Amino acid sequence: MAAINAVTDFSVEGDVGVVTLNSPPVNALSAVVREGLKGAFDAAIADPAVKAIVLICDGKTFIAGADITEFGKAMTGPSLQDVQGVIENSPKPVVAAIHGTALGGGLEVALVAHYRVAVPSAKAGLPEVNIGLLPGAGGTQRLPRIVGVEKALEMVTSGQHVPAKAAHAMGLFDELVEEGSLRAGAIAFARKVVAENRPLKKVRELNDKVEAARGKPEIFESFRAANAKKFRGFMAPENNIKCVEAAVNLPFDEGLKEERRLFMELMTGSQSAAQRYVFFAERQAAKIPDVPDDTPTIPVKKVGVIGAGTMGGGIAMNFLNAGIPVTIIEAKQENLERGVGVIRKNYENTAKKGRLTQDDVEKRMGLLTPSMEMEALADCDMIIEAVFELMEIKKEVFAKLDKIAKPGAILATNTSYLDVNEIAAVTSRPESVIGTHFFSPANVMRLLELVRGDKTSKEVIATCMKLSKTIGKVAVLVGVCYGFVGNRMLAQRQREAQKLILEGAMPWDVDRVLYDFGLPMGPFAMSDLAGLDIGWDASKTSSSTVREVLCEMDRRGQKNGKGFYDYDENRNASPSPVVEQVIRDFAEKRQIQRRTITDQEILERCLYPMVNEGAKILEEGKAIRASDIDIVWINGYGWPVYRGGPMFWGELVGLDKILAKMKEFQAQYGDDFKPSALLERLVAEGKGFKDA
Ligand code: 3HC
Ligand code: NAI
Repeated sequence: MAAINAVTDFSVEGDVGVVTLNSPPVNALSAVVREGLKGAFDAAIADPAVKAIVLICDGKTFIAGADITEFGKAMTGPSLQDVQGVIENSPKPVVAAIHGTALGGGLEVALVAHYRVAVPSAKAGLPEVNIGLLPGAGGTQRLPRIVGVEKALEMVTSGQHVPAKAAHAMGLFDELVEEGSLRAGAIAFARKVVAENRPLKKVRELNDKVEAARGKPEIFESFRAANAKKFRGFMAPENNIKCVEAAVNLPFDEGLKEERRLFMELMTGSQSAAQRYVFFAERQAAKIPDVPDDTPTIPVKKVGVIGAGTMGGGIAMNFLNAGIPVTIIEAKQENLERGVGVIRKNYENTAKKGRLTQDDVEKRMGLLTPSMEMEALADCDMIIEAVFELMEIKKEVFAKLDKIAKPGAILATNTSYLDVNEIAAVTSRPESVIGTHFFSPANVMRLLELVRGDKTSKEVIATCMKLSKTIGKVAVLVGVCYGFVGNRMLAQRQREAQKLILEGAMPWDVDRVLYDFGLPMGPFAMSDLAGLDIGWDASKTSSSTVREVLCEMDRRGQKNGKGFYDYDENRNASPSPVVEQVIRDFAEKRQIQRRTITDQEILERCLYPMVNEGAKILEEGKAIRASDIDIVWINGYGWPVYRGGPMFWGELVGLDKILAKMKEFQAQYGDDFKPSALLERLVAEGKGFKDA
């Protein structure tokens, strides 16, 4: 075995040359990898003993793509296209041997090999769309030539990782070899190619599938229409579609040029910069400076959930889905039955859509033990409380739990706002107490705010961070404060939205501006969806807010067809003239002079105070980094990922501009707009949040 460079080896086994890459963690195509590949293939091609070449990777995966950390920097070493040219034009057959994930540029390298073999656990995909890009090394031109236009469109716009069996069925992999025997299997396959004198199959020359779609623009139009909602606001899906159109309508080399042009358009734009930032921010959030990776964790083999309401049921499902048994406790028999019934119904609905088998449904339900006795939690390793949001009840539950739970069990609260330290203080083991703030619907939303109390132990934090991955959540560690990170910032936006409708805007104006910004819905549509009467007490009502007046008029939101909006039988919303009048009357009573409010003011009034609150959160150390705040907003509130989160967006707008506007608003409307000291300091020093 000869080393070509630090990450590439070349060896000859009989008549097969083997190029081995070893560049942890994911064999990304950095300059040194490209250099190594080129050197190794040059050597293999020049070696007269070599009749065929296998490309294989060490470590956990085949090449997982271009090295994203190199983007935006000056390129060194050979380009990926140069390397691909050497491989594709090799006079000797090249076999890519795939394990782990062949992604992005990695799959594009495999696509210039003449054959691809893989183990059954391997996956392949072109996930560039997820970082606001498109496959820029021929992927959009080669993929449809193998899998056809429809499948290619789906793959490049979803970024899905296709499992080996499906990849084999669609012709992307030529052969599957036994798990654990990739190297031997690939060498044997290469020998077979040589022995049978099989052709040097170049994907670029396969035209049947793209020609079949030529002159059928309706394929693309219907794909665009079917996915319009999903792609709203994003640039990358459309550029990916245009590339596949180019593959169909242009000769291969022209298609490549079009792909390059559309790639550069994305690469130099702000959306991809934001999405690449989010990719790394999400991984960064998992790193807690004082809780190193090797912190011991507590095995969690059984989970308890207290409260089978809206949140408890969804929380339980997360664990059942991961195969972890759950005991769920209720105070009322009827609520227990209803809660368990809702879980079953959710699973049945998923099964109806074909995403679960009936067998899976029963398996998951079989892991669930409903009970009315807290004592049933004695053998649980982790217990999550999701009862009413009342401190007294929570304290009662935790005091009882302290007596029942086994030593070392994690005691978690799903509180949205309450003080985790105060809850922990009623137990004799505050080090075991942590906040696990799930978002509704808890079985769907990816975010988990982990709330660290003053005494929460590192083991508990490390365990919860790890467990969140097991149940498919993105966890962000936050500190104790009212509303934690997400709801605390949300309160800023909600307050301004309420003020704006009295000052002159209408709910549908505010909603439209925020929806057009890229949020899934505005605050008023959101209130209608959740129900205007949440937390409203008919016996104590005093017409003190527009919302209260609407509740008094029995306008309770979508559920009874009228809230801030009027709803038809299909729940389509339209602006309500009744609500408009209510708002005008309310403003008049308060002697508020209504005026014209621009869309720009709506946006600035709703979002700048959020950025400012984020700065206060950082200043107080309630979030570890600004990027953690962004991850909260992207995964918990649908902040558009192509805008990178409120803190990233704030910097894009300019912290100086935001500060100036906050000061202007403060002079006009008061201390709701008081700038944070951190914001003032960063602007004075010309710095950004990462320097905070
Ligand atoms: N470039 C640079 N670093 C990368 C990387 C990449 N393409 N992919 C992963 N990494 C890094 C991560 O940042 C992380 O670093 P850290 O340990 O310092 O935080 C480390 O590798 C491990 O990554 P994960 O924690 O994500 O490991 P997993 O095992 O959970 O997942 C994976 C592995 C599925 C490969 C996942 O990392 C992934 O999806 N990577 C991105 C794949 C991708 O987007 N490829 C396309 C790149 S763009 C491209 O190829 C352009 C081309 O068309 C020209
Ligand atoms: P819910 O009212 O739907 O359910 C609470 C359930 O707890 C009820 O079924 C009730 O019978 C049960 N319960 C009350 N006291 C109990 C006790 N002592 N022992 C056992 N069961 C008891 O409430 P929801 O919405 O599920 O909220 C639960 C918690 O989650 C609250 O702290 C809330 O703030 C928080 N939360 C709620 C979110 C939401 O969107 N609904 C989002 C995130 C957090």
